[in-house]
Amino acid sequence: MAKPRIIRISSQKGGVGKTTLTTNLSVAMATLSSAKILVVDTDTTNPSVGFQMGFVEANIGFDDVVNKRAELSSAVVVHMSSGVHVLPGTIRAKYTEALPADATDFMKSLLATDYDFILMDTAPGFTQLTTENFIDEALIVTTPTMSSCTSSVRLGQVFDNHAIPHTLVVNRFKNKLFEISMREVRALAGGAVLGPVPDNEDVEIAEAQHIPAYLLYARSDFSAAIRDIALYTLERNGGLQKYGQKAPQERESRRGGILGFIMRLFSRK
Ligand SMILES: Nc1ncnc2c1ncn2[C@@H]1O[C@H](COP(=O)(O)OP(=O)(O)OP(=O)(O)O)[C@@H](O)[C@H]1O
Ligand SMILES: [Mg+2]
Repeated sequence: MAKPRIIRISSQKGGVGKTTLTTNLSVAMATLSSAKILVVDTDTTNPSVGFQMGFVEANIGFDDVVNKRAELSSAVVVHMSSGVHVLPGTIRAKYTEALPADATDFMKSLLATDYDFILMDTAPGFTQLTTENFIDEALIVTTPTMSSCTSSVRLGQVFDNHAIPHTLVVNRFKNKLFEISMREVRALAGGAVLGPVPDNEDVEIAEAQHIPAYLLYARSDFSAAIRDIALYTLERNGGLQKYGQKAPQERESRRGGILGFIMRLFSRK
């Protein structure tokens, strides 16, 4: 059994779209390929993967598993319209209850699973969760502003110190003159940059419905950008030949919302 590929989604600044990238990338990868995907919400201050994917109130979550109060298998929930498995975060009355002292055993237990990819959403900044040795790569999310880009470059240096390969993803691109251009971002980052992922109101409308925009607005420019990042991520790690490409009907039947429900209902044999 191959080891799961662990991808950390990070940023130095808050609110730039880490959770949005995590949730949408996971459903895109799971609907384009047969790869088995687990999303882990490690953000114990503001967990919002569940909110974006329809698990609004999780009773058991990441902090229970990492603090050994629950087994991983009992805390994982399945996102029905994509097949993505999710270890949600939980909001505790006492913030300190959620803080894991050492995540080494947790990370080892992840390695023993049969997931192909594990996407870890994180709180802003570089929190030492003793997970560094287990991360295969990081996606650093930035908006096209000078403050976000420069702090992302600094975060990239932290990953360099841990020998973790990282790629910058530009999110919320409005194509305005006041923004930093993709060429400037590339020059700042000094390497490959993914995106731009457009700023699109659909994302916030979908979030309010707890459905990833990639599923709710499959034909939007946002979804096209996410699809490219999903294909790039799959391709870099063995490609669709390794994980198997989903047939178009199968992809359609994973569609979310009421349309997806009706399509699945009538396609049952
Ligand atoms: N491409 C986009 N277009 C429009 N809105 C977006 C886009 N990406 C994210 N948003 C919106 O921006 C807000 C912040 O996004 P998100 O929660 O993903 O950021 P975050 O980096 O995870 O935040 P935090 O640091 O608090 O964890 C959300 O309301 C989300 O819907
Ligand atoms: Mg977040």
